[in-house]
This record gives sequence, C-alpha cells and structure tokens, in this order.
Amino acid sequence: MKRYKLAPSILAADFTKLGEQIKRVDEAGADYIHIDVMDGSFVPSISFGMPVIQSIRPVTNRVFDVHLMIDEPIRYVKEFKNAGADILTVHAEACTHLNRTIMAIKELGMKASVSLNPATPLSVLEYVLPELDMVLIMSVNPGFGGQKFISSSLNKISQLRKIIEEQQLDVDIQVDGGIHLKNVEAVVKAGANVIVAGTAVFSSDIESNVHGFYEVFQN
Ligand code: DX5
Ligand code: ZN
Repeated sequence: MKRYKLAPSILAADFTKLGEQIKRVDEAGADYIHIDVMDGSFVPSISFGMPVIQSIRPVTNRVFDVHLMIDEPIRYVKEFKNAGADILTVHAEACTHLNRTIMAIKELGMKASVSLNPATPLSVLEYVLPELDMVLIMSVNPGFGGQKFISSSLNKISQLRKIIEEQQLDVDIQVDGGIHLKNVEAVVKAGANVIVAGTAVFSSDIESNVHGFYEVFQN
C-alpha cells in the first residue's frame, strides 16, 4: 500500500498571512500544498491564479498540487508549470480532449491527475487510467470550501481502488471536499491515499490538525 499523504487546501488559509500559514503546514509535516484554481465558469467562484502560485513557490519545497477547476485547462498547462506546479489536476468534465491534455501535462514533466465531480462515473477514466499519476475523486461539488462530504463517494473510491489493483497500476487516489478528522478514517479505508483538507486544517490550531490527520493515517 502507498504512503498516506495530507494535502492542505490553502483556499481555507488566512490570505493576509498566506506565506506564514504555508510554512506552518510544511513544518507540521504535510506532504503536499493543495492549490485550488477556480475560473468563475467551470465553477461559480473565482479564486486565484498563476501570480499567487508563483509568489508562494519560494516559501516551501513541498509538492505543489494544483487543482484546476477551469474550462479547457490545456490552454494554461505551460503557465502553471512555469508558476511552479508539480502535480496538475484537470477535471474530466472540463476537457474536450482529455488524452491530449494529460499528454501535455506529462510532456512538461509534471505529474498528471484527473478529477471527477460527484456525478461523473469512473467509466470516463477507462482509456486514460494507465497514463495517470493520480485520480482526484471530488466528495463535494467543486467551487467552495467548507461543504458537507457526499457519502456516495466512498463507494466510488473503493471501486476505483479495485480497478487500480486489478490492472496493477501505480495511481494515487486523492479525495477532496468535506474531509475532517472524524470522517477521514472511512475515506482512507475505502482506498484513498492522498487526503485534501481545507477547513479542517486551517481552522484553529494548524499544527495539531495536521498531526491529527497523520495519526489517523498511522492506525
Ligand atoms: C472545493 C475545493 C477543495 C476545498 C476543500 O472546490 O477543491 O479543495 O477547498 O475544502 P474543505 O476541506 O473545507 O471542504
Ligand atoms: Zn481542491
């Protein structure tokens, strides 16, 4: 089994102290920094883009796990590479040419990941799964932090883990949305190994929140 990783979503950080809060999750041991980019079209909200990513890049050596909630992300793959992305996640629903988009990400030396909205079936991955480094299963409808976990995603996670094992692939399963210390165990048991958490990391004590997740991972 793969090592479990926590990816704190900076969407829930205090933006007046963004650099400082990223340093705190880094020093507390979080493996990835999850960066949510929203375009106001694919999802209702607009968050931030390349200039913010570029400006926080020198703050940490942790992996920049960039979750693009934007239409036709192939248009900006190079810009996100230049801004400092290590993993680039695109939504299957947002790509007319999903295979081409994945190839463009890999050709630039980034890890390629595809995300599925809660209503999107796993079958859309059938012909691209062997090309991927990670699949992101959304456990909320993307667009906002602080939403409630949609429990049908647990079944989707276990189905995907089964497919990955049957095909003997080396693909991480990331889950994003509504995860906190009380439900993360179920998410991990279903077969996820990369956990995104925004509100549950950045509210109250950041360090003890990060440690709390890794304690669950160890058990
Ligand atoms: C939702 C984003 C998530 C979100 C997670 O569109 O992709 O990464 O910030 O936040 P919480 O953990 O608060 O649901
Ligand atoms: Zn996200």
